[in-house]
Amino acid sequence: MASALQFEVLDLRHFSAGIMRPLLEAESHVWSERLHWDYRGSADLLLQYLDSRVLPGYVAVENGRVVGYVFCVYEGHKAVIGDIFALESGEPGRIPGESGTSAAEVRSELLRRLLEMLQNTPGVTRIESQLLLHAHGEHTRAFEEAGFEVYERIFMEWPLRRPATEDGTSGVPRLAMRRWAENDFAAAGRLIATCYEGHLDSHINEQYRTAAGSQRFLHNIVRFPGCGYFDAESSRTLSLPGSTELAGLLLCSRVREDVGHVTQICVTPEYRGQGLGKALMRECARNLAQRGFQMLTLTVTASNRSAVGLYEQLGFHGTHRFDAMVWDPSEHGRA
Ligand SMILES: CC(C)(COP(=O)(O)OP(=O)(O)OC[C@H]1O[C@@H](n2cnc3c(N)ncnc32)[C@H](O)[C@@H]1OP(=O)(O)O)[C@@H](O)C(=O)NCCC(=O)NCCS
Repeated sequence: MASALQFEVLDLRHFSAGIMRPLLEAESHVWSERLHWDYRGSADLLLQYLDSRVLPGYVAVENGRVVGYVFCVYEGHKAVIGDIFALESGEPGRIPGESGTSAAEVRSELLRRLLEMLQNTPGVTRIESQLLLHAHGEHTRAFEEAGFEVYERIFMEWPLRRPATEDGTSGVPRLAMRRWAENDFAAAGRLIATCYEGHLDSHINEQYRTAAGSQRFLHNIVRFPGCGYFDAESSRTLSLPGSTELAGLLLCSRVREDVGHVTQICVTPEYRGQGLGKALMRECARNLAQRGFQMLTLTVTASNRSAVGLYEQLGFHGTHRFDAMVWDPSEHGRA
């Protein structure tokens, strides 16, 4: 007979930022250890949403203490599962050995409840999630049983040991490489939609499919600290001669005082294979190293072999594998 759960699962909207703060502090610690990520900016943003009591999700409560949570956000017909986290038994906030419930059990129950709620919510026709903190395979069964497709992704690191002296702009004579500017949003949105046409990443992230969706992605990256703080100084665009259109783009955010994270790199199909991707990356790394950054990181879909090959050639190596999940019954098997 299955043992009864040792914890209660309650609606996240009943919990204030003050109650959730210790859990988010524990989570920030894990982000820092595993991914060199100072999560405090993201945690503060999340705490603001929690205080507005509108964030859909669940909390696990054990012996009167909050020991785990999961949340999602709605974007029209789509729900995005933002994060799931549970304290390991024995961590501050959980008493070792007091309960027989592991963090994995807490996470899987939270996930089960959220998926059940979302898949029964009228109007939700698509669910996306990328659980960066969790190892590849950790939640595969729960998602696959709920009808999701699961795609492996890699977190890669490039230690910027000494300032690279090489000027990344050499070898791209026909195109102008320059810093990201505020008026690049529209052209960058069109570029991303073009670059990801038919690409697996636009199956995983629906925003990439249209210029308008890509612009929403850009606004999230540039204006909000959900994925670190946008760093215009190391972000670059490549413009076509005599045109306002872009041929390539690299966006970088500061995820820790001395760690940059590439949130986007793309080159338009007709300019690929000419060293532009490499040039964008080298120029970003040169700028960061000059400013004292120690590391550049990124995430890539494991099956995107040309991108993984390019990053490995530059000096990146994979340090963590996680999963991206998609539930969209209208396009099942189309990837
Ligand atoms: C990834 C991307 C930015 C690369 O841009 P690019 O300008 O074509 O890249 P470069 O010409 O500088 O480098 C290509 C390098 O990739 C590597 N590469 C290409 N195909 C490869 C493959 N199948 N296996 C291994 N390495 C491969 C090669 O090392 C090549 O280097 P080389 O010039 O020494 O041969 C571009 O392909 C793109 O926009 N793709 C779509 C969007 C995307 O996938 N972005 C990355 C998301 S993480």
